Amino acid sequence: MTSVGVIGLGVMGSRIAENLYRAGLLTGVYNRSRAKAEDFHAKHPDVKVYSSPAELAADVNYIITVLSDDAAVSSVIEALLPHVKGKVIIELSTISPTTSVSLAAKVSGAGGVMFDAPIMGTSVDVEQKRITVLVGGPRERYPEIEPRPLRQGASHGSPRPWPWTCYKHLSKAPPCRGSRLSLSP
Ligand SMILES: NC(=O)c1ccc[n+]([C@@H]2O[C@H](COP(=O)([O-])OP(=O)(O)OC[C@H]3O[C@@H](n4cnc5c(N)ncnc54)[C@H](OP(=O)(O)O)[C@@H]3O)[C@@H](O)[C@H]2O)c1
Repeated sequence: MTSVGVIGLGVMGSRIAENLYRAGLLTGVYNRSRAKAEDFHAKHPDVKVYSSPAELAADVNYIITVLSDDAAVSSVIEALLPHVKGKVIIELSTISPTTSVSLAAKVSGAGGVMFDAPIMGTSVDVEQKRITVLVGGPRERYPEIEPRPLRQGASHGSPRPWPWTCYKHLSKAPPCRGSRLSLSP
């Protein structure tokens, strides 16, 4: 069963969480400032509010992070490392490739998988199901995230080749294809 937790309920993350909720995939949320998570819970009482990224990780198999910058993503992923064995992290923030590569290697070393998946578009695009996600990660695991949570939470999209992926620096494996996906039902 697909169970998704969203970490970061800012402008983009709150809307992505809303879409995943509507798709029936969202188990719970974590936000550094708890008030935003409580606001989300007030609208959706069946969504859990977690007190830490680690607590969220224990309950879900897919962890989506949508955070401000490299420092925010690094601190959250580092905190998650002891809890990522068997988990899939889909990292949607816009951060540097160097940080992505380093964090993905750490997640892999801890027994998890991290997809680097920056989003292109605005908050309105998220609401209107038009957001583009450039997915980088291990090709063999991509089908697992495309139908759910990404594709199942999507309206429609036209998969297309995308030349960049952080994982091309990690192995000689062919890069995962990029996809245009909409994180909305
Ligand atoms: N907004 C856009 O139109 C847009 C478009 C494309 C890509 N992006 C990218 O998407 C990402 C998110 O953007 P956004 O607009 O949603 O940002 P945002 O509204 O500023 O939200 C940032 C989120 O990061 C959390 N955060 C910041 N520092 C943290 C830390 N040290 N530890 C834990 N959590 C931390 C914030 O928590 P608090 O609530 O506690 O502050 C908040 O949940 C960014 O990388 C941005 O570049 C944004």
